[in-house]
Amino acid sequence: MCLGTRAVLVAVRKAQEPRLECRRNANEEKGNSMSTVMITGANRGIGLELTKRYAAAGNDVLACCRDPKAANDLNALDHVSTYGVSVADGDSVAALKGELGDRPIDLLINNAGAPGPKQQSALEMDYDGWAEAFAVNTMAPFRMLQTFRENLKAAEGAKVITITSQMGALDLNWPLMYAYCSSKAAVNKIMRMVSLELAADGTAVALIHPGHVKTDMGGASAEIDVEESAAGIMSVIDGISLEGTGCFMKWNGEVHPW
Ligand SMILES: NC(=O)c1ccc[n+]([C@@H]2O[C@H](COP(=O)([O-])OP(=O)(O)OC[C@H]3O[C@@H](n4cnc5c(N)ncnc54)[C@H](OP(=O)(O)O)[C@@H]3O)[C@@H](O)[C@H]2O)c1
Repeated sequence: MCLGTRAVLVAVRKAQEPRLECRRNANEEKGNSMSTVMITGANRGIGLELTKRYAAAGNDVLACCRDPKAANDLNALDHVSTYGVSVADGDSVAALKGELGDRPIDLLINNAGAPGPKQQSALEMDYDGWAEAFAVNTMAPFRMLQTFRENLKAAEGAKVITITSQMGALDLNWPLMYAYCSSKAAVNKIMRMVSLELAADGTAVALIHPGHVKTDMGGASAEIDVEESAAGIMSVIDGISLEGTGCFMKWNGEVHPW
């Protein structure tokens, strides 16, 4: 790391210190209670289970999905408002921001994710599909965070959680699903970086690997079901604070290697 960069990081950390203390106190006063939870990819899989559980716990859930008319499971839930948004499309996300205005958001869960194209190996690559995987898995979580930054700041003590994957860890040497793995590695890096800057807003940022889960993406022979994954994710989220911002966790509470 060059000296100039190190000096900038030291300055950022220093600038954050008094505010961190201040926000922690604000959080304690609120008893860490959540009220408005925004979840992307809420119509099926892990996102749907998280939506059900946050709503059942009495939170107002802003459930985002591409096709709300077809989201029968969501539309049947109390405390859930369903919004049609395509997270990889800037105009669509901007329209949602227009609809929600300045409403404070306590918790943003970037859950929507795509496995990428059929061809994504060392031998063959669908480059358009790779770009789409990046749009959904990497850029969309960042766009959501950026678009709703003021809403999160207004909530005081807010959290931004991105559901990433162990397959984005540099530590894991599985040479498969190049597009998916690289898009998750990239979102890990970008969330780690932005956690430094969002600390000044009082917003904590974290990455969570949900486990290998029985969903359309994870397949029927995956290790755990959505109930176990979502319960674990919620418990991890409860424990996340500004002190640990920028962390990479597993659904079961263990720290994930980068
Ligand atoms: N299942 C696992 O084993 C596993 C392991 C590690 C990480 N993850 C991560 O966990 C998250 C949830 O996955 P899941 O297992 O619940 O998958 P899933 O059942 O396949 O659901 C994926 C969700 O993402 C949405 N989505 C996909 N492409 C989209 C796009 N282009 N624009 C907007 N939304 C899009 C889907 O919406 P539509 O219904 O409109 O397609 C759906 O709501 C993902 O980020 C995934 O990478 C899963």
